[in-house]
Amino acid sequence: MSNETTATAAPASRMGEPLPHDLLDNGERLTREQLRELQLDRLRSTLRHAYDNVGLYRTKFDEAGVRPDDCRSLEDLARFPFTTKADLRDTYPFGMFAVPMADVRRIHASSGTTGRPTVVGYTDNDLSMWADMVARSIRAAGGRPGHKVHISYGYGLFTGGLGAHYGAERAGCTVIPASGGMTARQVQIIQDFEPEIIMVTPSYMLTLLDEFERQGIDPRTSSLKAGIFGAEPWTEEMRREIEERMDIHAVDIYGLSEVIGPGVAQECVETKDGLHVWEDHFYPEVVDPVTDSVLAEGEEGEAVFTSLTKEALPIIRYRTRDLTRLLPGTARPAFRRMQKITGRCDDMIILRGVNVFPSQIEEIVLRTPAVAPHFQIQLTERGRMDHMVVQVEARPDAGPEQREAAARAISQGIKDGVGVTVEVATVDPETLERSLGKLRRVKDLRGG
Ligand code: DLL
Repeated sequence: MSNETTATAAPASRMGEPLPHDLLDNGERLTREQLRELQLDRLRSTLRHAYDNVGLYRTKFDEAGVRPDDCRSLEDLARFPFTTKADLRDTYPFGMFAVPMADVRRIHASSGTTGRPTVVGYTDNDLSMWADMVARSIRAAGGRPGHKVHISYGYGLFTGGLGAHYGAERAGCTVIPASGGMTARQVQIIQDFEPEIIMVTPSYMLTLLDEFERQGIDPRTSSLKAGIFGAEPWTEEMRREIEERMDIHAVDIYGLSEVIGPGVAQECVETKDGLHVWEDHFYPEVVDPVTDSVLAEGEEGEAVFTSLTKEALPIIRYRTRDLTRLLPGTARPAFRRMQKITGRCDDMIILRGVNVFPSQIEEIVLRTPAVAPHFQIQLTERGRMDHMVVQVEARPDAGPEQREAAARAISQGIKDGVGVTVEVATVDPETLERSLGKLRRVKDLRGG
């Protein structure tokens, strides 16, 4: 394809630069003081809306002895009860909707690992706000009107595909709605349609990168300039791997269906220093997962979100199970940042008393040259003790000695860095399961 056809609305070299002031939206122009005032206003009406229209909130507030009017400052939110995934499951499917069904324009659901899915709903205004927040996220990642955005998040009940889709349209981009799967064809489409931006899970990006190489195409020559990666945890090492192999900017997007979907928080391409929470619509807190108390800025704990403008499903103090810390804003000074998610409370493996997160293993595997960035964690039993096996794929050119040395280095790295002894096995290239969306890193093979 000739170079003439790759002309873009904004030169690629400018992709990593700050957003010009005239492209900031009204919310991004607020000062911190104006933002806090707006938040309190919106918070009070959200609490009222939830109390008046959702039985579960009314019961919970009454039991806790709080009324919406008791919220006179943002700090007062801490007096209100939390909402959990179990609340949504217990009211399945529509029990937490706060508007008549005729006003619910769309439904999404997340499958979860067990039992009933979690169902969420959106009014026209909710869908519009969501598109605005994803559009803001795309601009923060370097996307501009006229860019083509290739979306490989799955379309359907999952919020990733359609959430990204309408946000990219709202940003004035041209959408390529690829969805997940058919990896070989995705590579062909990227080659032929020449998108500047890709939105996909980081693990599926790795699958795509391998496919580029399998087809004999150097991924660095593709038209892509930036990737907006989320829906699962990924590390700085993974960012480096993707940026180097693809020659793109890799930035993080965060969200969850219960709060809206993708676009709750977004990393800015010029700083890549964690995700700015779009606080004019989603109010963040970080709490101690054990004591439930609200933690100060900078302290690590569980992220909790309260929606500030949502109509169909107002969500009050939703316990995400995601571990992070809040930090002051940088590229968007009025909005606080959340540090890249280190893991979920639920992902934590307790191995012989030591807490282990898959992200810690990822960091060590990706620092080891003779192995590919593909690994899987298996939990088994040895006698009465839990045993962990980390299977890592060797690179095709690694000989038996290099493979063995790599396994030893990873095992030593885990012992030094995490503090547990695990078995590391290198396996042949292309033998571990590949991601088609969200990847499951841990296989629990323990009986009972
Ligand atoms: O995964 C929404 C989404 C789609 C976000 C596309 C970003 C991109 P759920 O299926 O409800 O929604 O899963 C939400 O995924 O609680 C986190 O545990 C995890 N997660 C989402 N984004 C990130 C991220 C979507 N950037 C759950 N880093 C959340 C780490 C993430 N974990």
